Amino acid sequence: MSWPPTAPTSGADLPQFRPDTDGTHPPLLSPEYTSTRLRAPLKPPVDLPQRLTEVSGPVLGDGLVQPEDADLTRGYAEQPAGQRIVVSGRLLEGDGRPVPHSLVEIWQANAAGRYRHDRDNWPAPLDPNFDGMGRTVTDDDGRYSFTTVKPGAYPWKNHHNAWRPAHIHFSLFGRSFTQRLVTQMYFPDDPLFAQDPIFNSAPAQARDRMIAKFSLQDTQPDWALAFTFDIVLRGSDATPFEEGSA
Ligand SMILES: [Fe+2]
Repeated sequence: MSWPPTAPTSGADLPQFRPDTDGTHPPLLSPEYTSTRLRAPLKPPVDLPQRLTEVSGPVLGDGLVQPEDADLTRGYAEQPAGQRIVVSGRLLEGDGRPVPHSLVEIWQANAAGRYRHDRDNWPAPLDPNFDGMGRTVTDDDGRYSFTTVKPGAYPWKNHHNAWRPAHIHFSLFGRSFTQRLVTQMYFPDDPLFAQDPIFNSAPAQARDRMIAKFSLQDTQPDWALAFTFDIVLRGSDATPFEEGSA
C-alpha cells in the first residue's frame, strides 16, 4: 500500500472539510510552553483522505445529555463558592452557518483555581459543591449556554512564578468525530495574559477570539453575571484550537 493512502473510489459522495487557515492556531511546538518541546511531532503531519469515519459524527440519541448537565452550580447540597456566571454563545461554521445539535463540553477549576483532579494538589481549597464539568448540545441555531462560577487563576510551574489566566476549557465535536477541537475561553482584561505562554502561543491576531465578552444584556438580575463566547470552527475568523493544555 502506498503512503499516504489514496481516497476511496467507492463512488460515495462525501463532504470534504477545508484545511485549517494559517495564522489562527498555535504551532505544535511553542518552546515557551515547555511541555510542547516533548510532545510536538518531529516530522510534518500527513494529510489523510477523508472517508466515512472522518466525516460522520457522534449520534447522541435522546436523553443522553440532560438539561441539568449545563448547570455546574446544581447537584450538590449547597451553591458553589464564587462569582456565579452564565457563559453562552453560538457554534458556527467559518461562513457563519450555525452548527446545530453538536456536543459542547467544558471543564474548569473552581473559584479558588483548583481542579478536582488527583494531580492538582496546590494549596487552594477544593469545593465540595463543585466538580467543574458540564456538557450540552447546541440548539437549532447553534446556541449553547452554561451556568457556572468564574474559575480562579492557578500556578502551573511552566516557568518561575507562572500563573494561568482564568479560563474554561471547551471541547467541540463540530459535525464529525475528527473535527473534535479543544480550546480555552478567557475573560476580558485579565492581567495574566502577558506572562502566559499558552495564551500567547496563538498568533497575535487570533488571540482576541479566545476572549469572552461581558454581556450586561445576558446578565440575570439578582443571580448571575454573563459572558458570551462564539466559537468559529473554520475559516479566517476561526477560534484558535490546541493540541494539549494545562
Ligand atoms: Fe486549565
